[in-house]
Amino acid sequence: METMKGARSSDIGPDLFRKLIQEYFRTCVDLGCGDGKYCYEMARTDPDTFYIGIDADRNGLVEYSRRIVKKPSRGGLKNVLYLISNVESLPEELNGIADEVTVILPWGSLLQGMVGSDPLYLSNIRRISKDGSLLKIYLNYDVKYEPVEMERKGLPELTEGYVEDHMVPAYASAGIRIAGYRFMENEEARSIPSTWTRKLGFGRARSTLLIEGVIEGGSP
Ligand SMILES: C[S@@+](CC[C@H](N)C(=O)[O-])C[C@H]1O[C@@H](n2cnc3c(N)ncnc32)[C@H](O)[C@@H]1O
Repeated sequence: METMKGARSSDIGPDLFRKLIQEYFRTCVDLGCGDGKYCYEMARTDPDTFYIGIDADRNGLVEYSRRIVKKPSRGGLKNVLYLISNVESLPEELNGIADEVTVILPWGSLLQGMVGSDPLYLSNIRRISKDGSLLKIYLNYDVKYEPVEMERKGLPELTEGYVEDHMVPAYASAGIRIAGYRFMENEEARSIPSTWTRKLGFGRARSTLLIEGVIEGGSP
């Protein structure tokens, strides 16, 4: 697997990877992690959990991959790993490791995969998860602000009706039970410590849709 550490990419073999995560009580995977801030901030306050941030764009990971290798007194952290990968082709080494998967304000193909309930994306999420693990997806786009993007990508309006009629059944067929969903306002959204939740949460009034799922039939 290709990892980003100290602003450099290198390979991490399966044995070292297993050894790293075995030391921790839980493993959380953040897909489309962007600059990796969410994993970094969560790992700081939750030292018993190992956080893995994954993104297709290596350049975004430079700053936080530098921070994690510093001395602990200067912000270094041992319980974070950044990987470079598309969600479409997640490495086999991740199979069955996640207790929780987050997808926070995705864009591009990841957004289309999540909203469109693409079987490849959903089966990959299930493949890397333990049985009964949690999936949290945060979505935020609006016809008021992104009409052109929505039209171009064929994105539907994010409504309760869309979630109920399209996402709930499609996720269920992929082994992910949508246990709840709700819209949150800016004030709550910006309490999630990622770069984009902060950016949007301090901007114009928007609703962020949180979808919470339970992954059934993942790795026992
Ligand atoms: C708006 S950013 C959000 C980043 C971060 N989650 C946050 O909240 O700050 C969306 C991220 O999704 C990543 N992305 C989009 N499609 C992807 C895919 N198919 N596989 C992996 N990453 C993807 C992009 O590279 C980008 O970093």
